[in-house]
Amino acid sequence: MDSRNEIINTQQESIATSMDCDDVELVEYLPYILQDFHEIGSSAQSLTRIIKENNTKETVKIIDLGCGKGAVLIELAQHVKSECLGIDGIKEFIGYANEQARMQGITNCKFEAGDIRKTDKRQGKYDFVILGSTGPVYGDYYTTMESLKPLLCDDGIIILDDGYIKENNNFNHAITGTKKDLISQIKKADMEIIKEYLGDEISDKSEYGKQYQDIKRRCHELMLKYPNKKELFERYIRKQEEEYHNLEEEITCSTMLIKRKMA
Ligand SMILES: C[S@@+](CC[C@H](N)C(=O)[O-])C[C@H]1O[C@@H](n2cnc3c(N)ncnc32)[C@H](O)[C@@H]1O
Repeated sequence: MDSRNEIINTQQESIATSMDCDDVELVEYLPYILQDFHEIGSSAQSLTRIIKENNTKETVKIIDLGCGKGAVLIELAQHVKSECLGIDGIKEFIGYANEQARMQGITNCKFEAGDIRKTDKRQGKYDFVILGSTGPVYGDYYTTMESLKPLLCDDGIIILDDGYIKENNNFNHAITGTKKDLISQIKKADMEIIKEYLGDEISDKSEYGKQYQDIKRRCHELMLKYPNKKELFERYIRKQEEEYHNLEEEITCSTMLIKRKMA
C-alpha cells in the first residue's frame, strides 16, 4: 500500500503526521514549540505572487486547508481582492491567525478550527484551494484530488505545496514519493498539473538553520519544565534535524497548480 494512503484516523494523528511528529503526545506542545514561527511551511509571499499571477477573477474565493497560523491568507488578503477562509486543527494557531487579522484590520479573511477532512461542498466552491505543506492528510494524491474536487469551481485551481523525490534518487522517505507517482495519481483523478514553481521561487533555505535552532531551544525549555517527557522532546528535535536535512539534500520542494483536465 502507498505509505501516503495509510489510514490516519484521528485529527491528532493527522496533525502529528503533517508536522513530522512520530508521537501524537507531542501535538499539544506544538503551539509552544512553534511560538517563534509565523509561517510554518509554505512561503506566504510566494503563494501570494503565484495566486496574483494566475487569478482571472475580480474577487477571488480562496480556502487554505491546514492553514497553520494563517500567514499565507493574511498576506494574500492584503494584496488580492479576495474572500478567504482558513481552517486548521490547532485552535491556538487559529486564535493567533484571527488576532493577526484583527490587528491588521483585515476583514476579508476568516479562520476556523476544525478537521479539514470534514470540509465539503457545503462550505462553498473556491477559485483556489490551497494545501500548503500538510503532507498526506487526505491519503495519497489520488484520494487528495478526489477529496478536494467538490470544493473547486469548474475552472478552480488546487495549489499543492509539497515535495517529491526525483526519479534518479534512490532515497526513501516515509511519506514523500516520486514525481512519477504523483503525476500518475493526479492523472487518475482526471486532473493535471498546469504549472510548477520550484527552488528559490518558493522556498528560502537560508531560514532553515534559524528555524531548527528555535525549535531546539523551545524543546529544551519544555524538557526543563517536564523532565519526565525529556525523551519525547529529544525525539522531536532529532526528527526535525533529519527533516531539515532531507529538505536541503533529498526532497524537491514544489508548488504545483492543478486543474480538472479539459474534456
Ligand atoms: C506543516 S503545517 C503547514 C501550515 C500552513 N499550511 C503553512 O504552510 O504555513 C501543517 C498544518 O496542517 C494542520 N493539519 C494537519 N491535519 C489536519 C486536519 N486533519 N485538520 C485540520 N488541520 C490539520 C496542522 O495543524 C498544521 O497547522
